[in-house]
Amino acid sequence: MLGRIVNIVNLDAQYRRPSGWLGRSIGRAMARDHQPENRWTIEVLQAGPTDQILEIGFGPGVAIQALSAIVSAGQSIGVDFSATMVRAARRRNAAAIRAGRVQVLGGEANNLPFAAARFDQVFSIHSIYFWPQVSVALAEIWRVLRPNGRLVLTILPRELWNLDNPDLPVGTPECRPYRPKPKIFTSSRNMACFRPLE
Ligand SMILES: C[S@@+](CC[C@H](N)C(=O)[O-])C[C@H]1O[C@@H](n2cnc3c(N)ncnc32)[C@H](O)[C@@H]1O
Repeated sequence: MLGRIVNIVNLDAQYRRPSGWLGRSIGRAMARDHQPENRWTIEVLQAGPTDQILEIGFGPGVAIQALSAIVSAGQSIGVDFSATMVRAARRRNAAAIRAGRVQVLGGEANNLPFAAARFDQVFSIHSIYFWPQVSVALAEIWRVLRPNGRLVLTILPRELWNLDNPDLPVGTPECRPYRPKPKIFTSSRNMACFRPLE
């Protein structure tokens, strides 16, 4: 019965914007399955204790939780447009939120509710595939990053989405896998860096 229900719901839509009981369950799966990407991204950020850091599309809030142990005197702030994930991440980060080291907010990548140059670093893990207008979101990120701030976007390249059958098409209109083509990211800033997750 559960299998039939799962088959008739659109799972891509749930990964794009988790909601309800299925969204909570997908959030738990993401917390478990995305550990390597979360750990790798935190390593690349090399955050300092006083950094101001923004995550876009935090899902269950695992990366923010790990970061909050490092950023002890700064702030780790997250924005995600799923109310279900905001609640899950608030539960996961309750102590750090009470201590003022973490904020977990509802919001859109296209319209970040922050002042210009607010952050030292911005990052996002497995979320850019779902953003409706990547260039608008990148312009927003550029606005909220301080000069010489750092942006880290962690993705699974298109080639790795279906290793069993790489010729099969991947993605849907609402979920667009990326090839790591630096030119996508170089239009507004003089940087691009892709490193494979080992
Ligand atoms: C596949 S999940 C990844 C979650 C988490 N980063 C991880 O790796 O486990 C994508 C997340 O991005 C969020 N998201 C997608 N599009 C968004 C947008 N335009 N603005 C804000 N959040 C978005 C979704 O709600 C979801 O929580």
